[in-house]
Amino acid sequence: MKVSDESFRFSHDFLWGAATAAHQVEGNNHNQWSVWEKENAASLATSAEKKYRSFDSWPRVKRAAMHADNYVSAAASNNFEEYERDFDFLTQMNMNSYRFSIEWARIQPTEETWDDQAIAHYRRMLQSLKKRNIEPVVTLFHFTLPTWFADKGGFEKKANVVHFIAYVEKMMTELGDLMTYVITINEPTVYASISYLAGMWPPARKNPLLAVKVTNILAYAHNEAARTIHSIGTGYQVSISHNSPHFIAMDGSIVTKMTIGFGQYIMDDLFLRKVIDLCDFVGINYYMTHQIKGVRLRQPKRPVTDLNWSIEPADIQHVLERIHKTYHKPIMITENGLADATDTHRKYWIEQTIIAMEKASQNGVSIIGYLHWSLMDNFEWAFGKWPRFGLVAVDYTTGKKTLRKSAQWFGTRIALIRRRSA
Ligand code: BGC
Repeated sequence: MKVSDESFRFSHDFLWGAATAAHQVEGNNHNQWSVWEKENAASLATSAEKKYRSFDSWPRVKRAAMHADNYVSAAASNNFEEYERDFDFLTQMNMNSYRFSIEWARIQPTEETWDDQAIAHYRRMLQSLKKRNIEPVVTLFHFTLPTWFADKGGFEKKANVVHFIAYVEKMMTELGDLMTYVITINEPTVYASISYLAGMWPPARKNPLLAVKVTNILAYAHNEAARTIHSIGTGYQVSISHNSPHFIAMDGSIVTKMTIGFGQYIMDDLFLRKVIDLCDFVGINYYMTHQIKGVRLRQPKRPVTDLNWSIEPADIQHVLERIHKTYHKPIMITENGLADATDTHRKYWIEQTIIAMEKASQNGVSIIGYLHWSLMDNFEWAFGKWPRFGLVAVDYTTGKKTLRKSAQWFGTRIALIRRRSA
């Protein structure tokens, strides 16, 4: 096994942390997603066996996956109430950064109202992080929309972007004094393709032209938001979080090479080139490598994560180097991790990722932070609650939260790295 380069130093201000998103952890949200969950929970439970029975994890997860309650976020990880307790875990792991999202539907429950109490809540969260010397990375839109905005057509209509910008402006004027790093939109390409092409997330459409339209409107929304944020203050570091898988060739054929080139262009550059001028850094989410032979996607080699995704953490080095070579901007890893309920592969994953970051840095990539997905087990969208991404395990019955073994190790590793780089 490869070992970490003892002589390598991460910079003293490198951000070591974890990430979450409001709807996935807070509990008791009312938004476009919470409505959709309730309407679709029964059918998601009924179709689970057909969809997931080929997964290696199926025997372990089937009970939860076939139960309708699994598909309703409900109290989720109760982070809205328990954020202080959750922040204790960050401190325990010696982390100096935390990415979370603001729930737009809480801030602006109707088109005409701003909720001052909700704003005060997020202010308290930011203040608490600052007090703990934990740098917040704040996401403004992470897949969930207020119902009134969704009813107007959401990001399907360019004219609706003014509402998003009004919300962005409100957040920056109310809370911007406590922020530096702002993610305007989480994974625009994933949002557009799963919601409008695969039809698996609300509004569950299967319309390729609409998917392209929404992607372009999200690019426009990011650019407008970034301009707005910079007009409010010059010190902000703004980006999107972009999901960038890696593609690997299973043979040396021209067709495979072309498929990969095309795939990578569609997954990364088609979107990134539209927003890159208004990104101060590039937020990258890496979860998996796709093995390609000819025009086909091969089954990932075993072992796999509980979601049957490949376990190729070291490939993040190629992602980092590719994004660096194309865009010449600093990179923050805004999400990275795996669904691993038994905590079998998480330590290996993080260990290999640290080595990969060292190598990419030695090859000239400027990496400014690593935020593991996720701080705690959370509501994994249409999969519901069975996939376990957390450094912290959540018992959804008792509400008990426990730091996983791999997370305890990660915390010790962070302390060592930070001591060395100080
Ligand atoms: C999303 C998260 C999600 C994670 C794991 C990313 O696509 O930003 O919300 O939980 O991947 O699937």
